Amino acid sequence: MALILGLESSCDETAASLVTSDRRVLAHRLAGQEAAHRPFGGVVPEIAARAHVEVLAPLVEAALADAGVTLDQVDAIAATAGPGLIGGVMVGLVTGKALAHAAGKPLIAVNHLEGHALSPRLSDPDLAFPYLLLLVSGGHCQLLLVEGVARYRRLATTIDDAAGEAFDKTAKVLGLGFPGGPAVEAAAARGRPIVPLPRPMKGSAEPHFSFAGLKSAVVRAHDAKTWEVDDIAASFQAAVVDCLLDRTIRALDHAGGATALVVAGGVAANTAVRTALSGLASDHGLRFVAPPLWLCTDNAAMIGWAGAERFAAGLTDPLDIAPRPRWPL
Ligand code: KG4
Ligand code: ZN
Repeated sequence: MALILGLESSCDETAASLVTSDRRVLAHRLAGQEAAHRPFGGVVPEIAARAHVEVLAPLVEAALADAGVTLDQVDAIAATAGPGLIGGVMVGLVTGKALAHAAGKPLIAVNHLEGHALSPRLSDPDLAFPYLLLLVSGGHCQLLLVEGVARYRRLATTIDDAAGEAFDKTAKVLGLGFPGGPAVEAAAARGRPIVPLPRPMKGSAEPHFSFAGLKSAVVRAHDAKTWEVDDIAASFQAAVVDCLLDRTIRALDHAGGATALVVAGGVAANTAVRTALSGLASDHGLRFVAPPLWLCTDNAAMIGWAGAERFAAGLTDPLDIAPRPRWPL
């Protein structure tokens, strides 16, 4: 059994977690920065980086105390090394390096997307490779065939915005506040999907996603002043779900051998998205796996878990490893 300290700071959540290789989350500390970014309607990189510097070390201390362990008892330190905002990634990676060096423990540089991609295996012990993963977050929208640890085949990505970004921009246009995803979901629950909105790439022979046109259509629908905000939100959410479903159906033809359909990333917290994918999986005779909500949005347990999977595979990293703000999986 290995004990891993995980660190996450690539966007606007600072987090530290202690995770075991037998899937126990001994500690899970998280400090969000929503209040600091809210006046700007989005994440301000400089503010994010400064906040990570202030809170990461105390969060590590608190997580160790929660778990009732000392750094000496940890087997390895896993830190997000990208992709993400460079300032935040540097804070987490340098903290990980310092702790690894001070305690004489191995460092594991984790790709944040790998954290999301493997997180369903932390919550579901029966999830075996390979599986088709829809990774939908604020920065990414991809379909991946997860063949094993460090073995990811990208089947599709977005040619413009990520799905979460579309939620955030829609929330901004509709004046629903920040962060956008949960606000749009709440408004959508009050509205009716009656506004005609496009489904970019739906039915395309290309495998990819696109959401920029949908966002522009939301702006036009709002400017027209003929629709209720809640109805626009409901229509937007229905369009996103349609696009995600259509692209996932296409990818299933190229995901031979997949044992399950899995969704992860912040947008996987959306109930309409989960329900639609769950139905698709059962139509195709596949298991459907979605991590619990707290594991869908950014957190350090998924980084600790990816660290545990890499550690078991003998994958550790040198202390001079560089942060990678852009780092495709
Ligand atoms: O995975 P995540 O926490 O951070 C990134 O790696 O990007 O994802 C954050 C994204 C944001 O765009 C947020 O609006 C979206 O996930 N999100 C949601 C919901 N909760 C979070 N989108 C739709 N419905 C939700 N309930
Ligand atoms: Zn994320």
